[in-house]
Amino acid sequence: MRAIVVSATGGPEVLEYSDYPDPELNPGEVLVDVAAGGVNFIDVYHRMGRYPLSLPFVPGNEGAGTVAAVGEDVEGVSVGDKVAWANVMGSYAEKAVVPVSHLLMVPEGVEPELAAAVTLQGLTAHYLTHSVHEVKPGDDVLVHAAAGGMGLLLVQIAKLRGARVIGTVSTEEKEELARRAGADEVLRYKGFADAVRDLTGSGVHVVYDGVGATTFAESLAALRPRGMMALYGQASGPVPPIDPQVLAREGSLFLTRPSLGAYIATKDELAWRASDLYGWLASGELRVHVSRRYPLAEAARAHEDLEARRTTGKLLLIP
Ligand SMILES: NC(=O)c1ccc[n+]([C@@H]2O[C@H](COP(=O)([O-])OP(=O)(O)OC[C@H]3O[C@@H](n4cnc5c(N)ncnc54)[C@H](OP(=O)(O)O)[C@@H]3O)[C@@H](O)[C@H]2O)c1
Repeated sequence: MRAIVVSATGGPEVLEYSDYPDPELNPGEVLVDVAAGGVNFIDVYHRMGRYPLSLPFVPGNEGAGTVAAVGEDVEGVSVGDKVAWANVMGSYAEKAVVPVSHLLMVPEGVEPELAAAVTLQGLTAHYLTHSVHEVKPGDDVLVHAAAGGMGLLLVQIAKLRGARVIGTVSTEEKEELARRAGADEVLRYKGFADAVRDLTGSGVHVVYDGVGATTFAESLAALRPRGMMALYGQASGPVPPIDPQVLAREGSLFLTRPSLGAYIATKDELAWRASDLYGWLASGELRVHVSRRYPLAEAARAHEDLEARRTTGKLLLIP
């Protein structure tokens, strides 16, 4: 098959479009012809070696397509089924193997491309708004990078749950997108904590911060007493170590650094989140903004664009 292969970690140029052996199908897995692979920031961390993996590897943690073969001990899945997955490596390729524990059936009426665009970030936005902090009507919520892949979904889902949503973005175009997704207020990053306090009085109930290094300290200052700091990513770089006493000083705050795997660890939990997510898509309550589609061979360009903050919403790779 053709795939993107990383043989040494580094910049976008290490994403090489090459011939690569077809993945081996083991018991409990299915082989999928990939229709589209989602691009996620974690793919950048893997490529850079910030989250180390053994080399060589095929990147990509999310995709959707058609089942081409079914391994031993797999029940309820047939060749031809439309499926999607998240948190399984190897989707920057024409074929991928997916363990059934991570396999989701794409419902009738949802295009596989759309499933590839929403599954990883949608499941993440679900656990952040339903489990890390259960957003309630009337909550004030701050979403950083509100026009990004994660951001646009977080804004919409927090609105579905009745919150007032404040977003941060870097440009006017991104502001417009965040507002169209339902954000009540949209700020630039400079001085955002003061602006949040002006809007809310005592601060927000929760901050969803996937930006990391450049926003972390001010995000704590934007929280109300006993608020929740959900540091779920580090697009601007890792956050340096902190003294826990800071949490007391800023108002008895909670700090968590969650990752998707811990929130879809059981088949039931994965099914609950996916059923909500695909249900909102079917009903039109959730819209997915696919801003760019790249041929698989141009994965390096997709990474350059993502890291340079040139993108909005979701990026897809099409084999
Ligand atoms: N923990 C989890 O379970 C989980 C799951 C999925 C994603 N994530 C995290 O969620 C975050 C967003 O991921 P995504 O794939 O949806 O990306 P994205 O938000 O579409 O893209 C990143 C955005 O971050 C903002 N940003 C601010 N400073 C930046 C910098 N120095 N370099 C690059 N971007 C910067 C930019 O928006 P502005 O220009 O508006 O600032 C940029 O567009 C990432 O940190 C990712 O690791 C975590």
